[in-house]
Amino acid sequence: MTANHSDALVFFGATGDLAYKKIFPALQAMVKRGHLSVPVIGVAKAGWNLDQLRERAHDSLEKHGGVDPSAFEKLSGLLRYVDGDYQDPATFAALRRELQDAQHPAYYLAIPPVLFETVVEQLAKSTCSKGARVIVEKPFGHDLASARELNKVLLAIFDEADIFRIDHYLGKQPVNNMLVFRFANTFAEAFWNRNYIESVQITMAEAFGVEGRGAFYDQTGTVRDVVQNHMFQVLSNLAMEPPVRFDSESVRDEKVKVLKAISPVEKTNLVRGQFHGYREEKGVAKNSETETFAALKLEINSWRWKGVPFYIRAGKCLPATCTEILAKFRKPPSLIPDSRLTENHLRLRLSPEATIAMGMMVLASAEGMTLQAREMVANRSPRAGDMDAYERVLGAAMEGDATLFAREDYVEEAWRIVDPILKQNTPVYPYAPNTWGPEQAELLTPQGGWDNPGDGQDALTLASQAA
Ligand code: BG6
Repeated sequence: MTANHSDALVFFGATGDLAYKKIFPALQAMVKRGHLSVPVIGVAKAGWNLDQLRERAHDSLEKHGGVDPSAFEKLSGLLRYVDGDYQDPATFAALRRELQDAQHPAYYLAIPPVLFETVVEQLAKSTCSKGARVIVEKPFGHDLASARELNKVLLAIFDEADIFRIDHYLGKQPVNNMLVFRFANTFAEAFWNRNYIESVQITMAEAFGVEGRGAFYDQTGTVRDVVQNHMFQVLSNLAMEPPVRFDSESVRDEKVKVLKAISPVEKTNLVRGQFHGYREEKGVAKNSETETFAALKLEINSWRWKGVPFYIRAGKCLPATCTEILAKFRKPPSLIPDSRLTENHLRLRLSPEATIAMGMMVLASAEGMTLQAREMVANRSPRAGDMDAYERVLGAAMEGDATLFAREDYVEEAWRIVDPILKQNTPVYPYAPNTWGPEQAELLTPQGGWDNPGDGQDALTLASQAA
């Protein structure tokens, strides 16, 4: 453990849903890997005691990934519990006592954003914030103004270097592998620019609905839920320049520059959709205009990308669960008639498995020079023991490595791009579940069409399957 490593982890919202689904499994995995040996203090207002928290942790692990008896025993030994209201100074006095001689605790706010201000102020008043860092869950604000306000609240008490804004996409190995693909391979740089790339599309499709989160989702919608954060992080990894050094600030400087080069989304470049049946979900308004699908087109006004359209499409109740990028190349100045050529492409699948595929033309038969499109594919399926996104980001925050977190200027730039359009109440078009969104999304179609991951109808997929 380095001197900079947090010497206690405190998580607020210990009895909540996020802790149940993600945090306990991540903590057990960290213990198992030998990455967690400091006190872990859960805080909540539930009238619980430590044994109840341990039971909850056990229950959570049974449902999410399985109990590892030896790691669980160690985790149980690290767990502490503080019960109390976040408004009440006595809760923080009790926390101070539980922290004992910890000098650099990490506070993880796995609680609704409306409580952030109360908690950080109480941390300061009780002196718990001294020498500490804070880890903040998404959503980081609801719009540009609220994100700025939240930054102000946090920065009044913590330094930017001690604030870790979670975007769990940054904890995913295939998302990090995008940077390795780009910056550890000479050949990738040669074609990765406006001279060779015609368009880039990113699809984040989910085959499920809002899964009991109707009340949250109805206040949020697809653009706020996954585009402003997860999809923009993917976009930044695709479009950024090589960082001058591989430290957190150099990497994050380049990401911010990508967003700075993007103008706010125009009305004509956003299509919102809502799946049939959404308004009957628990917690959703009967006349809800919240989108469960969004397709948008962006331009990055940089030396590398000017003139290359970037399309993003994300939605619930689509035909597949898959996140994938497809970059289409310009056609070559070939002597072969254009109509017989399919554009080359680079396909990066980020989930459920990691894929890097190059689409190319090959000779199918010498007779009559028949060509066909084929893919050269490198594939890696998730394996038991792989580090999960939450384990990776929590471990990085405790080490004080901010590379995998959104910086203050980054979140504000991201909101700047979508904030005006979200306030314009653009139409929301209905779509049937298990389809690729409303037909109006076709108005925003990349040249050559959307690539629908996994539907088997795509010409490129068919071509490679037929071969
Ligand atoms: C969350 C969103 O941030 O990301 C969810 O709130 C979404 O709506 C989820 O389903 C997707 O994450 P993953 O890791 O399952 O792709």
